Amino acid sequence: MSGEISMIGSVILALFLAGYLGQQYLPPPTPKVIGLDLGTTFSSVGVFHPGSGEVEVIADEEGRMSIPSTVSFTSAAVLAGHEAVELADRNQQNTIYDAKRFIGKIFEPGVLEQESARYPFQVINNNGSAEFLISTNHTFAVSPEFIGSRLLLKMRKMAERQLGTPIQKAVISVPAEFDERQRNYTVRAADLAGLEVLRVISEPTAAAMAYGLHKVDVFNVLVVDLGGGTLDVSLLNKQGGMFLTRAMAGNNKLGGQDFSQRLLQYTRERVQQEFGVPPTLKEDIHRLRQAVEAAKLKLTLHPSVTISVPLHLQIYNSSESPAPILFHAVVTRKLFEELNTDLFQKILAPVETVLKEGHVEKEDVDEVVLVGGSTRIPRIRKLISEYFQKEPNTSLDPEMAVVTGVAIQAGIMGGSWPLQVSAIEIPNRQLRKTNFS
Ligand SMILES: *[C@@H]1O[C@H](CO)[C@@H](O)[C@H](O)[C@H]1NC(C)=O
Ligand SMILES: *[C@@H]1O[C@H](CO)[C@@H](O)[C@H](O)[C@H]1NC(C)=O
Ligand SMILES: *[C@@H]1O[C@H](CO)[C@@H](O)[C@H](O)[C@H]1NC(C)=O
Ligand SMILES: *[C@@H]1O[C@H](CO)[C@@H](O)[C@H](O)[C@H]1NC(C)=O
Ligand SMILES: *[C@@H]1O[C@H](CO)[C@@H](O)[C@H](O)[C@H]1NC(C)=O
Repeated sequence: MSGEISMIGSVILALFLAGYLGQQYLPPPTPKVIGLDLGTTFSSVGVFHPGSGEVEVIADEEGRMSIPSTVSFTSAAVLAGHEAVELADRNQQNTIYDAKRFIGKIFEPGVLEQESARYPFQVINNNGSAEFLISTNHTFAVSPEFIGSRLLLKMRKMAERQLGTPIQKAVISVPAEFDERQRNYTVRAADLAGLEVLRVISEPTAAAMAYGLHKVDVFNVLVVDLGGGTLDVSLLNKQGGMFLTRAMAGNNKLGGQDFSQRLLQYTRERVQQEFGVPPTLKEDIHRLRQAVEAAKLKLTLHPSVTISVPLHLQIYNSSESPAPILFHAVVTRKLFEELNTDLFQKILAPVETVLKEGHVEKEDVDEVVLVGGSTRIPRIRKLISEYFQKEPNTSLDPEMAVVTGVAIQAGIMGGSWPLQVSAIEIPNRQLRKTNFS
């Protein structure tokens, strides 16, 4: 009798152990929904791994975490990302970038003609919508959503290769200021890439989620997104598990490019002082620009850097090019900050506007989130932390914050989140963005 009981007991224990061990050693389910950040200049894809509870930003074959948002057409192929950029110099008029600026928008007559003049490719007007004119072995027009679809397809393939499984579902982020039509056309781009969009979330909401702010007790979240060419500031309000965009403001002519430009101007003046002539050759300016860009990045980590650039300068009138002269300059972080004082200061105007329009005092902002590569600049971080009298959330790479948040939302939509509140957004139809520039 007791033997029987103990035998049943052993069986139950064995079954229990088998189940337990099975659970322990079963490979965690593969993510089925990807998170997409379709950016103006760079795009990224990420997934949420339910097993580890971590977000993986998916790298391409070369280990790069984002692809340039560029698509290039040849008579033989359509290339997206780095491959398109490699081709850009030889195929300028058929290499399209910045398509996000045009997606789903209706333009007033004349505006697209002006836009077209800014680009090496042709932007045409199709009844108010932008299209790009491509001339390979024949001439045809493509839409901004088609360009988007090629980037999304590339990222879908990157994810499928990494995960070893077909992917058909996605969550995608869009700028907070995108209206319903722009959101719809972004969804259409995904559709063309064979992806069903389960949810569209705004970029500042994604950034807040990347920091886990959908799970903690916060009310007002301010997101500062400073990229290469634009500044976007959003005030979010969390109510229950939902984020509501309370106010938006920005400056679409302020970003990293402008800070680099100031440093470039400074080095040009130094060259003039030292050699008596300004750098005018295209290649010289190109080299200086690259050196300045690299110096700017290094100055976020180091108090000073040395710029060293070989220049050909047209000092002599000879037809054969003279031997290069080496130009050296030491640039300190302090100098870089001084050259940009007024530009850095401009960041605060839209911050003040969103607080005013959102009827929130700066003391009532619970968390500040920084997004975009230019928020790595130490002086900018200091400016913002001094203004709010608190440290901003900066533990993530500011260029990966949006894709990280979108991937978390994708994990929630995929059902792999361990039953936590999902942050959803309340649509903000009436909201207008204030622009300083
Ligand atoms: C011309 O374009 C078509 C379609 O884009 C392509 O199939 C064909 O191979 C091209 N021809 C040449 C000669 O490149
Ligand atoms: C052009 O656009 C207007 C409104 O944007 C629309 O009513 C009209 O049907 C369009 N025409 C064509 C030919 O697509
Ligand atoms: C966006 O798409 C939805 C659903 O397909 C549709 O009901 C709505 O009219 C569209 N809105 C615009 C502005 O295109
Ligand atoms: C150099 O070239 C400029 C115009 O390109 C000319 O005006 C000038 O006289 C030349 N100087 C000499 C020394 O040849
Ligand atoms: C950033 O966000 C987290 C919430 O996940 C919060 O606990 C933390 O205090 C925030 N601030 C900083 C400076 O990291």
